Amino acid sequence: MTSATSSEFVLTRPATAPLDPPPVYSRLRDEEPITRVSIWEGRLSAWLVTHWEDARAVLGNPAFSSDTSRSGFPTFIEDSRPAPRGFFANYDPPVHTTMRRTLTREFMVKKIDALRPAITDITRELLDEMTGEKGPVDFVERFALPLPSLVICELLGVPYEDHDFFQSHSKVFVDLQSTGEQFTASWEALNSYLLQLLTAKRSKPGDDVLTRLGEHVDTGAVSERDAADLAAFLLFAGHETTANMIALGTITLLQHPDQIPYLLAGPAEAANAVEELLRYLAIVHGGLRRYALEDVRIGDVTIRAGEGVIVPLHVANRDPEAFADPDRLDLGRANARQHVTFGYGIHQCLGQPLARAELQIVLPELFRRLPDLRIDVPLEDITFKQSTTVYGVHELPVTW
Ligand code: HEM
Repeated sequence: MTSATSSEFVLTRPATAPLDPPPVYSRLRDEEPITRVSIWEGRLSAWLVTHWEDARAVLGNPAFSSDTSRSGFPTFIEDSRPAPRGFFANYDPPVHTTMRRTLTREFMVKKIDALRPAITDITRELLDEMTGEKGPVDFVERFALPLPSLVICELLGVPYEDHDFFQSHSKVFVDLQSTGEQFTASWEALNSYLLQLLTAKRSKPGDDVLTRLGEHVDTGAVSERDAADLAAFLLFAGHETTANMIALGTITLLQHPDQIPYLLAGPAEAANAVEELLRYLAIVHGGLRRYALEDVRIGDVTIRAGEGVIVPLHVANRDPEAFADPDRLDLGRANARQHVTFGYGIHQCLGQPLARAELQIVLPELFRRLPDLRIDVPLEDITFKQSTTVYGVHELPVTW
């Protein structure tokens, strides 16, 4: 393939190398780093930006809008409906600024660091429960999914007993087969659920984000509806992403057992190992989507006002100009933290201190506790999530 002018944007990762980006993009990055691809079965085309430096140039430039309600915005599905304001990743300033500001303090590194003992306890309890059984067990169901769900419930003040409800609705948001109608129905269900919890917190406040969101409603900073949507967004973003990262990170480490001692060498090594796993896997792999508000020159190309842009983070993270020998996992890589897995610019992931803390605790605890952990089936028998915007596995049978 020399030109992608008429080619469809491909999400599917290769069955023979499921942890790598589709090979077509490595070739494009070398031959035609900014190129046109089509989406919506050919009904819209957008620019695909594959170099790390160009990815940052797009994501860091306010001339590229995140407002998915603009006509011609390259949304994941054609039938997409305007997102609620609480889903502020899909808004530009000033709405984005107002919404994000309401939550900034909740995710400050110091605040998240105070949660580390609770995260460690949750990790150990889940491992106790899992190892109390004779394997094989499904690692996703027993560990990777409950862990970040329990943590985000604790942080928000949401009862974990309701996890089936919020996990199933969250899945709708990442599934590319979902229709706009299903998306809206799930959003409404989560909004009403969180509105009820917000109301309950008014009479029985706790030390949690929902209680503080209620206070923001009282000061007039946000409406009650926005507060419930913000909580829904956090509940979804707070578990779906990290759960996939725990499962895929575990698979990746089991594929590179010689590097596990580095992960276990100490907190600084574990932190670097997590950055490299984030770089290597870049689970938000549907490409960040943007829309040019004015003509902008990126690399050798002028992107015109009104044109859409797709930034595939997993491809940018494998750019040899940014990372030496990029397809090699190297937990000790000096510049691993330069990855764009959490995005870049004003929308850079708000929850990244939490995701980092969870992964830095969970992965070493897991491999220290279960040195003989192994996947119970050949890798080719594992079903990877190929039609979701967040990459992962549906199930992962393990023994130890
Ligand atoms: C490994 C785990 C995670 C990954 C890879 C990830 C990735 C991302 C990416 C790429 C963006 C940027 C979207 C854009 O620019 O359009 C983002 C935004 C966001 N993430 Fe995460 N995320 C993770 C975990 C979390 C967690 C644990 C939370 C919250 C509890 C969270 C909350 C958010 C929020 C609120 C935004 C919107 C920020 C904004 O638009 O200003 N994320 N995330």
